Amino acid sequence: MPTPDPTQAIEALSSESRLFPPPPAFAAAANAHDRSLWDEAARGHEEFWARQSRELLHWFQPWDTTCEWNLPDSKWFVGGTLNVSYNCLDRHVLAGLGDRVAIHWEGEPGDVRTVTYRELLDDVQRFANVLKSLGVGRGDRVNIYMPMVPEAAVAMLACARIGAAHSVVFGGFSAQALADRINDASAKVLVTADGGWRRGEVFPLKAQADAALASTPSIEHVVVLRRGGNPVDMVAGRDHWWHDLMAAADAECPAEPMDAEQLLFLLYTSGTTGKPKGIMHTSGGYLAQVAYTFKYVFDHKPGTDVYWCTADVGWITGHSYIVYGPLANGATQVMYEGVPNFPANDRFWSIIEKYKVTVFYTAPTAIRTFMKWGTAEPAKHDLSSLRLIGSVGEPINPEAWMWYHEHIGGGRCPIVDTWWQTETGGIMISPLPGVTATKPGSATHPLPGVGAELVDEQGSPVSRGGGYLTLTKPWPGMLRGVWGDPARFRETYWSRFPGRYFAGDGAKLDDDGYLWLLGRVDDVMNVSGHRISTTEVESALVSHPSVAEAAVVGANDPTTGQAIIAYVTLRGGASADEKSLRDHVATEIGAIAKPKTIYFTPDLPKTRSGKIMRRLLRDVAEGRNLGDTTTLADASVVDELKRRAEAAAPED
Ligand code: WTA
Repeated sequence: MPTPDPTQAIEALSSESRLFPPPPAFAAAANAHDRSLWDEAARGHEEFWARQSRELLHWFQPWDTTCEWNLPDSKWFVGGTLNVSYNCLDRHVLAGLGDRVAIHWEGEPGDVRTVTYRELLDDVQRFANVLKSLGVGRGDRVNIYMPMVPEAAVAMLACARIGAAHSVVFGGFSAQALADRINDASAKVLVTADGGWRRGEVFPLKAQADAALASTPSIEHVVVLRRGGNPVDMVAGRDHWWHDLMAAADAECPAEPMDAEQLLFLLYTSGTTGKPKGIMHTSGGYLAQVAYTFKYVFDHKPGTDVYWCTADVGWITGHSYIVYGPLANGATQVMYEGVPNFPANDRFWSIIEKYKVTVFYTAPTAIRTFMKWGTAEPAKHDLSSLRLIGSVGEPINPEAWMWYHEHIGGGRCPIVDTWWQTETGGIMISPLPGVTATKPGSATHPLPGVGAELVDEQGSPVSRGGGYLTLTKPWPGMLRGVWGDPARFRETYWSRFPGRYFAGDGAKLDDDGYLWLLGRVDDVMNVSGHRISTTEVESALVSHPSVAEAAVVGANDPTTGQAIIAYVTLRGGASADEKSLRDHVATEIGAIAKPKTIYFTPDLPKTRSGKIMRRLLRDVAEGRNLGDTTTLADASVVDELKRRAEAAAPED
C-alpha cells in the first residue's frame, strides 16, 4: 500500500491519456480558434472584460469604472446603465431580426409553439405593464413558480425590464420550499400556472402555491397561467388569470435604463447544511459574463445554430443558458417542457432530429441515464445536425464522456465540459471548442478572463496533483452576496483561504496542466490516511462495461477510518458481481481504492437537479436516521437502499 502524502489535500489516482483535438474544420470556423483571448486577458484582466461588455451589450450610458473590488464585495461597470431585457429583445428587433425564432417550444404532450423575437418582446412589454399594474416597481421581488413554458422567460424578462428582481423556484419544489423562499425574499407577487405536464400527467402547481400562500404575508397578488387545464381555486382580489391581465395591458413598456449593479435576480441554493441561501446577481456584469461565455463556449453562430439546453429555468443553468446568455446573443433555441422518457426513451433524440439541433447542452446524470437505456435509442434518430455538445452539473465520468462523444456526438462533435456554480453566474472552467484539445472527464482550463488555482490545506498553490479549487480574481458574473446575510456570504465563500473565493470543490491538475473536478470536498473519503475522491472511484466503476452509474461514499470504519462503500446501477441487460467490480477498480486506480462493499441498486438518490446525494448515502451506510428527504427527486429510492443495507448487515 502506498504511504499517504500529508501535503496532498486529495490524492490524484486515475490517469487518462486519450486526447481529442478540435476537428480542423470546426476550428477553422470557430469564434475562437487560437489563444488570443487568453493572451488579451493576461495583458489586462479588467480591460478584457470591458471589451466584451462593450462589444456584446448595449449600454445606455457607458461606465466610469470597470471594476471596484473590495474583497469580498465587487461592483462591475460602475456608473453605467443598461436594460437587460432591451439587450435580450429590443435591440435584435430594432436590428431587423424580429422574425427570427427565439424559442421553438415543445410541450410534453407534443403541442408546439414558435415564438419570434418580436412576439417575445410584445409579451414581455405587456407583462411588464401587468406587473406595474399590480404595484411592482424597481427593487421589488417577484417569485416565479412555473413549468417549462415560454411564459417563464417572459415573466423573468418583464421583471428585468422594470427593475424588479425575480426569484424563480423550480416547479418540482414543495409548497414549504416555495413558502420559505418567498418569505426570505419578501416577494410581492407570485407568478405561477395551474399546472404543467410531466411524465404524461399534469402536476398541479397552483394547489402547491395555495398551500405556500397560507404562510406568505408579503404576497399581494398571484398571476396564474393556464397550461395544465386542471381545476384551480382562485381567490378573488388576490388571484388573476395571466390571459385576462395580458388582454387588458398596454402594449408598450419602454425599457428604462437601470444601474449596472441593479439586482437582477435571487436564486436560492441549498448548501450542505442550513437554510437555502438567496444568491444575488446584478445586471451588467452578469449579462456580460453569460453573453461572452455563450458566444465562445457554445461557439454560437447567430441565424444558423439551433441550440438546446435541457435544464429547467428553475436552476442557474436555465437562467444563464436558456434565458439570458442565448437571448442576449439573438440565438434560436429549443425549449422542452417534459421528461426525456415520455412517451418513450428516445424523446430527446426525436427533438434533436425534428428541430435539427446543432448545439446540445445537458447534464452527466442525464447522460448516464441514456447509457442505462442503451445505444439503440439514439440510433433510431438522425443526429447529424449536432456539431457541439456540452455537459454541466457534476463531474462527467470518462466513460460517460466517451459514450456521449460516440453515441450522441457521432464521434465528430467537440464536448464542452463546463464547470461553474449558481454563485459564479456563468461558466468559469471549460474548453473553448475550437482551441482546446479535450480529455474525457476533464473540464480542461479556466476560460480567458477567469483566475482559478488549486491550493493545499494551508492555502499554498498546488501545481500538480489534488487540491482545493479557488478563484483568484473577481469576475463580472460573481455573486454579489447572500440575500439578507452578509456574514454568511463572507463566511461561506471567503473565509477558508484568505484573499480567495473557495468554491467547495476539490480538483486535481495532471502533468499537462489539465483540471479534473473531483466533486464537493465533503465528498472526499479518508481511507487509512489517504484522501480519495469519490469521483475517481465512481469513474473507475463506470468504466466497467456493465456499469451505468455509481455513487461512492466513505462510511466510518474501525480499522481504516473510513471504508469505501459503492452503490452501483447496471446498464440495461448487463450483469456483474461484486468481486469483478472491486478488481476492476483495483486495476483502474489501485487497490487502495477498492470498495469494501458494493450494493447493486436500480437507481440512486438524486436531488431534483440531478446531483447524487452522497450525504444521504453516507447516512444509509452508517445506519443513521435520515433527516429531511424532501429535496430528493424520488424518495422511495432511499427506502429501498435502507432495506438492502439492513438485510445485508450482520445480525448482532
Ligand atoms: C458541480 C450548476 C464537475 C460542482 C452550474 C459545483 C461540476 C456545483 C461541473 C454547482 C462540472 C458543476 N464538473 N462538477 N462540469 N459543473 N459542477 O450551483 O460541484 O447547481 O460546485 O450550478 O456543481 O452546482 P450549481
